[in-house]
Amino acid sequence: MNKNDFGYEQVEKQEHYNKVQDVFNNVANEYDLMNDFMSFGLHRNWKKEFVDLIEINDEKKTKILDLAGGTGDIAKRILKNHPNTSIEVIDKNFMMLKESNTKNNILKYNKINLICGDGESIPLNDNSVDVVTLSFGIRNMTDRLKCLEECYRVLKPEGLFLCMEFSMPENYTLRNIYDAWSFFVIPKLGKLIAKSEDSYKYLVESIRTFPKPEEFVDILEKANFKRTSIKQLNGNIVCIYKSRKI
Ligand SMILES: C[S@@+](CC[C@H](N)C(=O)[O-])C[C@H]1O[C@@H](n2cnc3c(N)ncnc32)[C@H](O)[C@@H]1O
Repeated sequence: MNKNDFGYEQVEKQEHYNKVQDVFNNVANEYDLMNDFMSFGLHRNWKKEFVDLIEINDEKKTKILDLAGGTGDIAKRILKNHPNTSIEVIDKNFMMLKESNTKNNILKYNKINLICGDGESIPLNDNSVDVVTLSFGIRNMTDRLKCLEECYRVLKPEGLFLCMEFSMPENYTLRNIYDAWSFFVIPKLGKLIAKSEDSYKYLVESIRTFPKPEEFVDILEKANFKRTSIKQLNGNIVCIYKSRKI
């Protein structure tokens, strides 16, 4: 139990942590562009659906944590829908945060704060945020339960937790097409565009070793989250988990 899946490889926890950092150091420059190519632009719809699930009272001052916020795409979208909220974007990878500023110009929004910090030890107080969003981040955490417990800790009671992650299509034909695209095309696109074939090989493998939706709900429950519902997108290629801290 001391080892972690890094794609299809089994590695020690510290090695897993370092390798994930390497992946995002390698891809940070072309991260957003690669998302467009890999998903035919679909990631934009997924992110829209995700952010549209945020329920807050816009009359009140609210604080949102966008954990593993990467290049700041989610934070920008949240602020567009909810201009009164303030957002803490926390990510472990400095290169990804740097991109959020150089490409997405995130620091021009004075309601967004960028923090280089760890999702397994979130640098925020207990019961301090109204909503936590975690988009395509949980798969990359070395200790997923620890990360979810941290999300729970920083949420206020009744706070909303939204987590989006890849899953696998249920339909046989779609699954075969998705597998072919994932294993034969995505790593080559990674080589061509981001100059890192291995990072995108990790991406497709890590999607397949990530727990199935019902298993992930069990982990959410272990972290104490309640009232979890799942929204499946594009034939279960992506799932959005919506839970509460009670
Ligand atoms: C696939 S990207 C997702 C970025 C963004 N949320 C999005 O939806 O486009 C995963 C992010 O998780 C971050 N990450 C990985 N491990 C982390 C950790 N332990 N703590 C915080 N962030 C982490 C990576 O640096 C990367 O920016």
